[in-house]
Amino acid sequence: MRFVLLCLSLTLSATPSWSQEAIGLAAPAEVNDSGLLQHILPRFSLKTGIRVIADDAGIMELVTAPPGDPVFAREGVIYHLRTEENDRQARFLDWLQSDIGKRTVESYAPEQGAPFTASFDIEAVQSDETVDGDTVLGEELSMTHCGRCHVIGPKNRMNGLGSTPSFAVLRAMPDWSERFEAFFALNPHPAFTQIDGLTPPFDPERPSPIYPVEMTLDDLDAILAFVSRIDAADLGAPLQFQ
Ligand code: HEC
Repeated sequence: MRFVLLCLSLTLSATPSWSQEAIGLAAPAEVNDSGLLQHILPRFSLKTGIRVIADDAGIMELVTAPPGDPVFAREGVIYHLRTEENDRQARFLDWLQSDIGKRTVESYAPEQGAPFTASFDIEAVQSDETVDGDTVLGEELSMTHCGRCHVIGPKNRMNGLGSTPSFAVLRAMPDWSERFEAFFALNPHPAFTQIDGLTPPFDPERPSPIYPVEMTLDDLDAILAFVSRIDAADLGAPLQFQ
């Protein structure tokens, strides 16, 4: 009898945490596709015995905007981890933000696209200078009018023109709002941009070389409101910008 009890208690205490349910982690498509999670999650599990698996319905979420804790970045997009009050989830966040976790993120070389970085100082780049307005409309307008050339955010990460600064990079400039307010007067935009009631019509001798950007000042207000709320890229970090 005593022997049986002993075996039982041994079994119980030796139960590996592997038998615990895995924690699901939902991530944006570009993170899933990059292969980063397949690189970092097994390493985290190996260290801690806590299983985290990529799962679109997961309770932990990687998102491209606050709230959440910033964990890594790529191409001007800062990924935030949203967790619940839970020891195992907290452990995952701690690990991601530890030196080992950061090194694990940065050691991953994606087959396509730039590597991820985990070395950035979020406090230094976040500014509370925001502009009131319809940010949802602003994002749509940015995608339609500017997304042909500029990377606006993760949605068109692959579509920007390589030589054109991303919105996150522009947002990081101290005078970003002046630049956006006057973008239609700054090269290369005058050649193809018409702001209703503001810019003179194109010279018939020099029609727009590309499908023109035609918008109103209200549209520009919405774009400013949207841009004021995107995370600025940390220009000091070794990020590779589009
Ligand atoms: C056809 C391509 C194209 C489109 C469309 C476009 N841009 Fe640009 N934009 C550029 C390029 C190229 C630069 C970089 C110019 C340079 O570095 O000299 C730029 C630079 C900028 C700058 C920085 C300007 C400066 O001199 O500081 C702002 C702000 C900007 N764009 C806003 C916008 C907004 C807002 C839209 C949409 C409403 C837009 N752009 C649409 C190509 C484009």
